[in-house]
Amino acid sequence: MKVLAFAASNSRNSINKTLVSYAAGLLEAGMVDNPEVEVIDINDFEMPLYSIDRERREGIPEQAHQFYQKIGEADALLIAFAEHNGHYTAAYKNLFDWASRVDRKVYQNKPAVLLASSPGPSGARNVLKAAKESAPHFGMNVKAALSVPRFFESFDVEQDRVSSDEIQGQLKSVLASLN
Ligand SMILES: Cc1cc2nc3c(=O)[nH]c(=O)nc-3n(C[C@H](O)[C@H](O)[C@H](O)COP(=O)(O)O)c2cc1C
Repeated sequence: MKVLAFAASNSRNSINKTLVSYAAGLLEAGMVDNPEVEVIDINDFEMPLYSIDRERREGIPEQAHQFYQKIGEADALLIAFAEHNGHYTAAYKNLFDWASRVDRKVYQNKPAVLLASSPGPSGARNVLKAAKESAPHFGMNVKAALSVPRFFESFDVEQDRVSSDEIQGQLKSVLASLN
């Protein structure tokens, strides 16, 4: 199974990138059959701020096509959402908006596990809820979702692993839904 994984954050120290990379490692360790997991960085798909005028003037940037193609080549998606003021980060929203101009069904009917984390008690649950509810309209087959609150209490950054048995169990359970 070819899995495309990424954090919907452009932070160089993204906790969601840490989380999604760890989850990708669990998949590679045998949670799915013949795993082939690629973790991409959305910084590699940075584009100018979407505007209909820019699109008319200059067309859709190559990065939007490349991101859409990456999704198309995968069998499944693993995405960890960072929350900014209750919603997607501007970086991901911009990437998503451009990709939606390639094809509104950005997620191309792929099965997906959605994660989200924040340092606070809410665990980015607002953005996770928004993603879970809206993604099916954009062609995502949402298999499971998990919010990880208080990231730095649940994840040992030094050891690069989940330190909470409860979260580890929940993570394995949502990842198993890709099988
Ligand atoms: C502009 C801004 C808005 C934020 N809004 C929220 C929020 O609404 N809910 C939340 O749980 N955390 C919020 N945070 C804190 C983020 O959860 C925290 O920065 C986290 O590390 C972001 O994920 P990332 O490291 O993967 O980018 C916000 C941070 C910034 C910079």
